[in-house]
Amino acid sequence: MSFMRNSWYCAGWSTEVADKPVHRKILGEEIVLYRTESGKVIALGDKCPHRFAPLHQGRIKGENLECPYHGLQFGGDGKCVFNPHGEGKIPRSAKTDAFILEERGGALWIWMGEPEKADPEQIIETEFLADKTFVSRTGYHPVGGNYMLVVDNLLDLTHAQFLHPETVFGKGSADRWQVSKTGKPSEGGEEVMQEVWFEETEDTMTAHQMMRNKPKPPLWDPIVDYEMTDLHSWITWYAPSNLRLTLELSERGSNEGPATMIVMHFLTPIDEFNCYYFFAIGWDTNIEDQEAADRVLGIVLQTIIDEDGPIVEDCQAYMGETSDLFSLRPVLLPTDGVAVKARRRLEELIQDEQEQAKVAAE
Ligand code: FES
Ligand SMILES: [Fe+2]
Repeated sequence: MSFMRNSWYCAGWSTEVADKPVHRKILGEEIVLYRTESGKVIALGDKCPHRFAPLHQGRIKGENLECPYHGLQFGGDGKCVFNPHGEGKIPRSAKTDAFILEERGGALWIWMGEPEKADPEQIIETEFLADKTFVSRTGYHPVGGNYMLVVDNLLDLTHAQFLHPETVFGKGSADRWQVSKTGKPSEGGEEVMQEVWFEETEDTMTAHQMMRNKPKPPLWDPIVDYEMTDLHSWITWYAPSNLRLTLELSERGSNEGPATMIVMHFLTPIDEFNCYYFFAIGWDTNIEDQEAADRVLGIVLQTIIDEDGPIVEDCQAYMGETSDLFSLRPVLLPTDGVAVKARRRLEELIQDEQEQAKVAAE
């Protein structure tokens, strides 16, 4: 299976990489992350070129990483810089891959493509993680399914009323989802209790959901004391597999500004049939209450680990040994519109990238 390579993928959260090396497998490649004594996070190929020991089992030595097996040390550029044996001569082939890694706003971003095309300006913002007017939590969960199945899941949040009755959606009255085809809420939308609409730009696809006059979903219980609510949420996809969800919850009938929540979802392929689901959540209401924050995190973990993760894994299992959804001729619903477009757009981007690489190699 082909992945988009010229793109930033989330490799983890800053807090995960401290005094011990960390293992990741990204786009099928074994990778080790470590933080040097001077504080920089380095990403190297995890296989030692000597006997292929996993370098992540080794030790950090200043700016270098020491192999756990015979003690060769590697620097941030992947070259062996110290050989503790014989006269200490370093064979020229004693090197491992080195990847560009950027640490931004509490997240670690790896570039697996052509180094000269890496532009840190394209890294998706996680500004709320450092914003004092927000409280936030981060985490991740490995999912045994193709990463685009999770993107499908997120671009069609109408699944929430069926899959998440105890967590993010709640047991509130559920209506039929109406689909507005105009790129905005339908005229006279106040009468429509559940509506979706889609927007797209050259680089993004966004799915909006509007829910009116519903009991407050359980996710918001620790944060606000409203009873009946209006909830506008919109989720934007950035190719290949990073999404930003914004939720604005207002008390029904109140003129007060909404409570805002932002949830980042970064899906990083491990291989064709597995991915990391990195998430960050932040909100701007009741931010001093740490116990409330932990309860919100608990609900998010339950949603991702006990609900979304398992259904995606079950779907993948029934799809069998393929990640090519369209080859299985799935039924398409009106609410699938944006997820289908995102898949088509990604296919084009991957094809373009491969054609450019072929031209460059000729
Ligand atoms: S396997 Fe790494 S030094 Fe021997
Ligand atoms: Fe979900």
